[in-house]
Amino acid sequence: MHVDVIVIGAGASGMMCAATAGSRGRRVLLIDHYPKLAEKIRISGGGRCNFTNRDLRADSFLSQNPHFCRSPLSRYTPRDFIALVERHGIRYHEKTLGQLFCDDSSQRIIDLLKAECDAGGVHWQRPSEVLGVAREGDLFRVDTDRGARFATSLVIASGGLTVPKMGATPFGYRVATQFGLKVVPPKPALVPLALDPEWLSRFGDLSGASFDSIACCDGPPFREQTLITHRGLSGPAILQASSYWQQAGGGEAVHIDLLPDIDDAERWLYDAREGGRTLAALLAEHLPRRFAQQWTDFEGAGKWNAALIELPRPVLAGIAARLKDWPLQPSGTLGFNKAEVTLGGVDTRELDQKTMSARRVPGLHFVGEVVDVTGWLGGYNFQWAWSSGWCAGQAA
Ligand code: FDA
Repeated sequence: MHVDVIVIGAGASGMMCAATAGSRGRRVLLIDHYPKLAEKIRISGGGRCNFTNRDLRADSFLSQNPHFCRSPLSRYTPRDFIALVERHGIRYHEKTLGQLFCDDSSQRIIDLLKAECDAGGVHWQRPSEVLGVAREGDLFRVDTDRGARFATSLVIASGGLTVPKMGATPFGYRVATQFGLKVVPPKPALVPLALDPEWLSRFGDLSGASFDSIACCDGPPFREQTLITHRGLSGPAILQASSYWQQAGGGEAVHIDLLPDIDDAERWLYDAREGGRTLAALLAEHLPRRFAQQWTDFEGAGKWNAALIELPRPVLAGIAARLKDWPLQPSGTLGFNKAEVTLGGVDTRELDQKTMSARRVPGLHFVGEVVDVTGWLGGYNFQWAWSSGWCAGQAA
């Protein structure tokens, strides 16, 4: 079978790319090996798909080449995707921080993409295994379990390594390597962090407790919830910081501000001294009660349990510093099974930012999560899938 474009991977970026190329009159074949269509969209955003972010900025993406994503994101913007969502009559709402979710179900976004592909006359081949790809003259040859397929353009939209049980494979990295392109080593990102057994013996029994916080690790601060788990820490603030922790090599501490609304914590403690209150009782006004007690016991090694009025000012200053900057050294992450995205991927220095094609291999494009562009939590990664998929679909 000969077509103009073969897209491998029928997830967010692959369907967007196929629909865009199809709408330009290109004959497109979309191949995916997983029995269910776009499972990651279906489970995303707690089943409601946080499909973009209204406040999207290019500096909300991590990459070894941070400027690369600017062009695709400015050519196909959140506004463009929102317009598409509205054309399909999908109702949505903003939850927080510019994050847009479907009102009913993420299935609506899958249906939208499927309908756009069908409108573009895209041919589907799924589920189907890809056995190998090769360059044959001006064409790409894709060997599948249903025979060889040929195209002038090949788009790799096979995603990253997160959630292997939903079809994730290292296929895209292998293709890149096969064609001599560099790959930034993939790591789990937006991922819960593991803490050592000593920390877990102190706090692990609080699993499920969460609190408002600012988390930071070698990157911007994130003001969101931190969640204690039986393995360590999670919650949006930690997931965001985890990407920067991974980018920094995993040796840094994650710093947590436990009192994000209180600027001068030393003065706040000092002013609260009257009335015989303890530190734990005061903290319980801002943090889960048991956490406040266990934090006080652990960090103060038993010396901070007296009434505040009995603690000298330098001790209050030390407590304040610790509350505003609680450093924790993760022992690792919970890995690709629990991560939301993959940091790293096909090195963007190998790619043309207008077409997402490999500079050294004309006609070979990479889009979506397989590329070394990783967004923050909050709709950024889908927007990258839409933008990069659309750019490749305009060129392939
Ligand atoms: P995606 O993973 O969507 O698709 C890749 C496709 O390639 C899959 O269909 C797979 O089967 C196929 N494939 C892989 N290997 C293949 C092979 N060898 N042969 C053939 N086909 C192959 N982001 C966001 O912005 N908002 C959100 O709400 C969420 N929520 C969320 C929740 C959870 C639990 C996860 C795990 C992830 C998210 N994300 C998210 C991230 C988002 O899902 C992700 O960034 C995009 O799906 C990436 O789109 P891609 O098209 O690149 O890959």
